[in-house]
Amino acid sequence: MKVLILGGTTEASALARTLCEYSIPALFSYAGRVTAPKPQPLPTRVGGFGGVDGLAAFLADNGITHLVDATHPFAAQMSRHAVAAAERCGVGLIALTRPPWEPVAGDRWQRVASVEAAVQAIAGPAERIMLAIGRMHLAEFAAQAQHHYLLRLVDAPGSLPPLPRHSVIVDRGPFTLDGDRALLRAHRIERIVCKNAGGEGAASKLRAARELGLPVLMIDRPAPAPRPEVHSVDAVLAWLGHDTDLGV
Ligand SMILES: NC(=O)c1ccc[n+]([C@@H]2O[C@H](COP(=O)([O-])OP(=O)(O)OC[C@H]3O[C@@H](n4cnc5c(N)ncnc54)[C@H](OP(=O)(O)O)[C@@H]3O)[C@@H](O)[C@H]2O)c1
Repeated sequence: MKVLILGGTTEASALARTLCEYSIPALFSYAGRVTAPKPQPLPTRVGGFGGVDGLAAFLADNGITHLVDATHPFAAQMSRHAVAAAERCGVGLIALTRPPWEPVAGDRWQRVASVEAAVQAIAGPAERIMLAIGRMHLAEFAAQAQHHYLLRLVDAPGSLPPLPRHSVIVDRGPFTLDGDRALLRAHRIERIVCKNAGGEGAASKLRAARELGLPVLMIDRPAPAPRPEVHSVDAVLAWLGHDTDLGV
């Protein structure tokens, strides 16, 4: 048995720790989007595979028997490629994902289907917006240049983000309710725009928004790729046929 974890999430790192703990042979893969990715206890490769063909070749060359897609729920292309390459190579595939966030009493969410729809939804008078979507789609918000955007990014941007009015905070989760409440107040934020990433690490901004009565524009996940999906490391171990009680 040899596992390949497609990573870039807290869940992927948790799985890597567990596979290492049980001495299950595995490799870890990062896209290479951040300058200092979290070190992993498994042999790690960084960078795209080169599409479905590249991933299929990697699976074959490295004798991979099980592929775990633990990428972010918005990493739709990687997930599609994983389905196609696993099928081509006859390698087992499972996705380790976090359930999406659901609104609770007191939340003022407006849901949209895509980044593009989010941009359209904020046409209107100038506001102070926390734009918590990472750095990949910032340029699309230049179409609503009237707003002041607070950006929270994992790395300091190499060049100025393409938004005329913005502030940047360089920080990486997990974030806290106290910290996010203070941040929203200090920047006089009137609305949050974010992706429905799910999980605990980035949920505190939603709790803080609820407390402060702020609206949230929630970008829903892209349609999931056709593959089995589980939400816990234990479920992945069970899929691998590993009995944690026996340690085998
Ligand atoms: N999208 C988000 O909001 C978000 C948030 C937090 C973390 N992340 C992490 O950042 C990475 C990139 O996200 P994305 O939205 O750019 O993905 P994407 O659009 O689905 O992927 C674009 C390309 O990046 C490469 N890639 C993605 N994940 C990879 C991995 N784990 N190992 C090797 N190559 C990978 C693949 O290149 P090739 O076609 O050349 O193989 C893929 O086709 C993902 O690993 C994801 O877990 C994404």
